[in-house]
Amino acid sequence: MFDTLSPLPIDPILGISKMAAADKSPRKIDLGVGIYKDDHGATPIMRAVKSAETFCLQEEETKKYVGVNGNAQFNDLMLDMLLGDMAGKELFATTQGAGGSGALRLGAEIIKAANAQAVVWAPTPTWGNHTPLMSSAGLTIKQYPYYSKQTLNVDFDAMRDFLRATPKRGDIVLLHGCCHNPTGADLSNEQWDIIADLLTEQGLIGFVDLAYFGLGLGLDKDMYGLRKLAATQDEMLIAASCSKNFGLYRERTGLIAVKTKSAENAILTKQHIGKIMRRMISMPPNHGAAIVARILSDQSLTADWKSELEDMRLRMSGLRKDLAAALSVQGAETMAEALARQSGMFSMLPISPEQAGTLRSEHSVYLLDSGRINIAGVSAARIDDLANSILAVL
Ligand SMILES: Cc1ncc(COP(=O)(O)O)c(C=O)c1O
Repeated sequence: MFDTLSPLPIDPILGISKMAAADKSPRKIDLGVGIYKDDHGATPIMRAVKSAETFCLQEEETKKYVGVNGNAQFNDLMLDMLLGDMAGKELFATTQGAGGSGALRLGAEIIKAANAQAVVWAPTPTWGNHTPLMSSAGLTIKQYPYYSKQTLNVDFDAMRDFLRATPKRGDIVLLHGCCHNPTGADLSNEQWDIIADLLTEQGLIGFVDLAYFGLGLGLDKDMYGLRKLAATQDEMLIAASCSKNFGLYRERTGLIAVKTKSAENAILTKQHIGKIMRRMISMPPNHGAAIVARILSDQSLTADWKSELEDMRLRMSGLRKDLAAALSVQGAETMAEALARQSGMFSMLPISPEQAGTLRSEHSVYLLDSGRINIAGVSAARIDDLANSILAVL
């Protein structure tokens, strides 16, 4: 039976990671996969995570199932952090997801259950897993204009005009809350305000994917858009990931939060999400959620987590500025300016797949064919080497 399965194309990101791993050159700079790296190229466990994990191991008394909606304390504390001091938290149906991806999938499933006709509109470009995640729930996913390859910035007029004209009432608009993957180009606060009004006017439902909060402009600033929609929309969804900002990648920790029109409807929606969970994996795992709950329920652990997160953020924004300065030469000004303006882990260099190939084969600089780089992949000492390699292929 299984010999009927056809060969799969190589995943572009994993393929490039493999190439990078095989390259033993001391000049190697690996800007491929989207994980945070420190100046030594390591992805260490965060201090607060290590401490919370130790406490959890000492304190836990049972390994009973956590229930279909996951760790309740995690769900509550995450929602509190996401919404800040906003009133109306009882309008949100929350459930723990297996990472941001699991949260997105639960979101897609609950949309499908409520309105199977809804089309999900995603930005062009978007994270490569959005389409598979949404479409495997049976939803149609289409794209709206977002990024201009000329200005290397959000083409806001095109985005706004398209969203005003094309999606139908009840459709879903997927928005990256911050640190847009793959471009690093985010909406300004004023643009979020306009999008919030537009969603209301057009009867569209915002779905905010928040995978990098704390790593862009800062924890609260990165949540401006999400909070704007949460405060102004009758209904909206949030998928939050704890992979990057808590460094819990392999523990698969995330949250789906769905804003509904009433507290009663939130309870019902939560039951439906629980039923979806039961059908898919029965119950989510506890470990990562317990760690996050332990951190967020302890003031000193929270303070330590925030401080380390801020150091990670500052390392990446410092690298961006240094790379931009090193690239500020004739012919590369637009790219340099964009790198400095964009935020988070990613930017998309305006280069061709052939130039990306040359960077890999002749300079041992590993990035995606699209030009996407993970800025955390370079050490401060290698910024000039990286800039020279990029300039050499332009
Ligand atoms: C935009 C975006 N959303 C969601 C995710 C999901 O992350 P995870 O499932 O690892 O928590 C990622 C991960 O790279 C991402 O880039």
